[in-house]
Amino acid sequence: MWRGQKHNFSADPGPGQNLKAETRRPKEVRTPKSESRQPQLNWVLFGLLSAFGLRVSALWPSAAPTAQTFDTSPPTRHSSPVRIVNVPLGPRSYDIKIGTGLLGGLGKECAQLNLGKRCAIVSDTNVVPHFASVASEALTRAGFEPVRVIVPAGETAKSLKTVAGCYDQLAAHRLERKSFIVALGGGVVGDLAGFVAATYLRGIAFVQIPTTLLAQVDSSVGGKVGVNLKAGKNLVGAFYQPRLVLCDLDTLRTLPEREYRSGLSEVIKYGIIYDAALFRALERSLPDLIERQNKNLAIVIGRCCEIKAEIVRQDETENGLRALLNFGHSIGHALEAISHYGKFLHGEAISIGQLAAARLSSRLTGLPSREVERIALLFQRAGLPTELNLNASQRPKLLAAMQLDKKVAGGEIKFVLARRIGKAEFGHFVPLAVLEQILRPAQPSTAPAAVDE
Ligand SMILES: NC(=O)c1ccc[n+]([C@@H]2O[C@H](COP(=O)([O-])OP(=O)(O)OC[C@H]3O[C@@H](n4cnc5c(N)ncnc54)[C@H](O)[C@@H]3O)[C@@H](O)[C@H]2O)c1
Ligand SMILES: [Zn+2]
Repeated sequence: MWRGQKHNFSADPGPGQNLKAETRRPKEVRTPKSESRQPQLNWVLFGLLSAFGLRVSALWPSAAPTAQTFDTSPPTRHSSPVRIVNVPLGPRSYDIKIGTGLLGGLGKECAQLNLGKRCAIVSDTNVVPHFASVASEALTRAGFEPVRVIVPAGETAKSLKTVAGCYDQLAAHRLERKSFIVALGGGVVGDLAGFVAATYLRGIAFVQIPTTLLAQVDSSVGGKVGVNLKAGKNLVGAFYQPRLVLCDLDTLRTLPEREYRSGLSEVIKYGIIYDAALFRALERSLPDLIERQNKNLAIVIGRCCEIKAEIVRQDETENGLRALLNFGHSIGHALEAISHYGKFLHGEAISIGQLAAARLSSRLTGLPSREVERIALLFQRAGLPTELNLNASQRPKLLAAMQLDKKVAGGEIKFVLARRIGKAEFGHFVPLAVLEQILRPAQPSTAPAAVDE
């Protein structure tokens, strides 16, 4: 429906939708550099209207909120336009591109970044068979000389030992200051390869190609890179922004179901902390998203990236606002640590953590209990765990693990809590007694997850 349509978008787009005028079939859709925290209905609307060749900029703000649902029409044969979300950080600004078939254009994209010829594709053993050749060939076609650095799949690869192995390989392949790294994989590869890029030769450029839903909506954006120590997750790291993020929706096709659903946990998080309209859209159209329909995926991933970009723009190094993104993560990270990163996927652990944070919010910041129930239901419908079955000896371990987390200041555990769906606040001190009560299983509506040590 984009074909041959002429548009003249001089109308004031209204808050949050300062979309550029385009007169030809728009291949790229750029979102604003910064966006106010106004009602966030327009992104969903934009996705719907764009499917019919219309631009929300011409219609907003008069469009009715009832349009908040995903497009459920069958996929069209032509590829969808590329959405671009800019992360505006002055000289460290970069684009996140979201669409299909982007991996094949990797070389051309990199050619625009003024990088050296030599580069390393860092990827893991699961991802390499699917996508490394396409990435390699795309880079080679554009005149680059890529080498592959392959790490084991899984959270345990996020270690200093793997980092050292990567350094050795980069040095053996003589990567130099102008060389760059392509992080091809999920959040583990992105965090690890990003940390290697931040530190090898005191920093070389890197490009993120996130291949999990979690990485596309969260970990590839915002420049937090790092690895785990035995003492806890992400305890060594840096803020180091990529030069470009390519979210190729095609890469999600091969993602195992459990991993995909784990990514939905971060998607739901954005709705709880920042965007009630996103939360409502997820409630209505979760099944379409679970089916991984490209149009819906592009809209949802685009919206999550916009929110993350807006938060990171205001607080790149997490002195305040960025902490919102840690909703559910204090408990989630502790859970991952006491189960030795083996039982729960990250998204699963923070699903349990977010429910606990919602219950704390109900007690301490007035989140209505009806909204706690809506949150629980959405996680459950996404196939994610919400309850935890800790025995008497595990509870203190979880509390101890939480105290190792970076969100502890002066011995107090600080929480992100919600006042209502779509509005969260950071920096709430939670009394230990209340925390302990919350960690005791109530009357779960699904079987609680037990923690094996
Ligand atoms: N830096 C940040 O801001 C940030 C934010 C959130 C999470 N994280 C980190 O992200 C990590 C979790 O990321 P994740 O959930 O992507 O895990 P992951 O990177 O381990 O990927 C999950 C699994 O899927 C495989 N995989 C990846 N892409 C695939 C594909 N397209 N097809 C088939 N298999 C594929 C991987 O090999 C792995 O086995 C955690 O370490 C977490 O701490 C970082
Ligand atoms: Zn997370």
